[in-house]
Amino acid sequence: MARVLANKRVVVGVTGGIAAYKTVELVRRLIQGGAIVDVVMTEAATAFVGSLTFQAITRRPVQVTTVGVWEGEQAGHVTLGAAADVMIIAPATADALAKLAHGLADDAVTLTALACPAPLIVAPAMDQYMYLHPATQENLERLRRRGVTVIGPHRGPLASGMVGEGRMAEPEELFGAVRAVLGRAGPLAGCRVVVTAGPTREAIDPVRFLSNHSSGKMGYALAEVARDRGAGTTLISGPTCLPAPFGVRFVAVESAAEMAAAVEEAISDADVLVMCAAVADFRPRQVSAEKIKKRTASLLLELEPTPDILASVARPGLLKVGFAAETERLLEHGHEKLVQKGIDLLVINDARRTMGAETARVTLLRRGREPEGLPDLPKEEVAERIWDAIQELLAERERVAQG
Ligand code: CTP
Repeated sequence: MARVLANKRVVVGVTGGIAAYKTVELVRRLIQGGAIVDVVMTEAATAFVGSLTFQAITRRPVQVTTVGVWEGEQAGHVTLGAAADVMIIAPATADALAKLAHGLADDAVTLTALACPAPLIVAPAMDQYMYLHPATQENLERLRRRGVTVIGPHRGPLASGMVGEGRMAEPEELFGAVRAVLGRAGPLAGCRVVVTAGPTREAIDPVRFLSNHSSGKMGYALAEVARDRGAGTTLISGPTCLPAPFGVRFVAVESAAEMAAAVEEAISDADVLVMCAAVADFRPRQVSAEKIKKRTASLLLELEPTPDILASVARPGLLKVGFAAETERLLEHGHEKLVQKGIDLLVINDARRTMGAETARVTLLRRGREPEGLPDLPKEEVAERIWDAIQELLAERERVAQG
């Protein structure tokens, strides 16, 4: 569930391209996220994916024709378009883009788009030469100028067997784009935030490193929710298996030292820093230039502390959020960190059960307030609750600043 999607009406237009099969996954994600999804298709699209597939996933009628849809629960293109919070056309063929650019409306998708005042996202998908053709490029330019969000296409294997530009963006990216567009005027619009995520790796030699079990899920969810609420978001991440979220400035780092440098640069104009990364506390004092051979009977690694990023960041006006991964005496250790590192909000979790898991049970600690224990929740929901708390702190600051 993503709060920005809850009960939002999303119209998904599908035009005739092989990438239509990926749109099935997009629709599934939107529904899981809490949106109400209506699918409209061109006749050609139904040759690639049947309307019944979309009907079964959305549990709502799918519109394919431009006439005769005013019966019972079914909504015509005008009603559908007018009620939408956002419309996304995926895949958008070269033909569909040309029609959209010129206001033509002779199929269910372009007709609905013309009758839709909500923001429009298009995900072009076509063969490379069709995409690079000046006619298509001009049409895309015209749509962009009109405020349409164009996602992709990307380079990769195409249906023709060629490799080139024209591959539709993946469902995950399109899902992020819908959320970002829906949230762009959200409560954090105008706010700049920096989120760190994942583990760091501290090199021992060219092939080995010290690290930890952090998956990055919590930090990525925090960056996505910040973006969903309209914040200009930078995500600084150690190595994880997760894709960079759409609409977020992504900075990939490896070691604690690299993360420290990236944070310092990113916070120069930020309002909030959320240090969710599981930064290694120690690193080998010396990194061997060559691979250490196993001939040595025993190996002693001497470690030195890494810089404490959160403690050393001291920009006036920057709201600092920290995470405390503890395995014992959670509250007591949490309080110590809150004071020592000058943190505004500390999120305490039991490291043994949270790292790598899908859910988390956390306690929020703020100075001068009772600790607030949250129930065990999916990490996406924990991220929403953390941003609720951050927004409250930002509002409090605003009130104090205004006297
Ligand atoms: N942190 C940091 N730089 C480090 C280590 C930690 O900025 N070198 C940040 C983490 O991102 C987190 C907070 O400090 O927000 C607390 O991290 P945690 O590992 O729980 O605590 P430590 O300060 O490292 O203390 P300890 O390991 O003794 O519990």
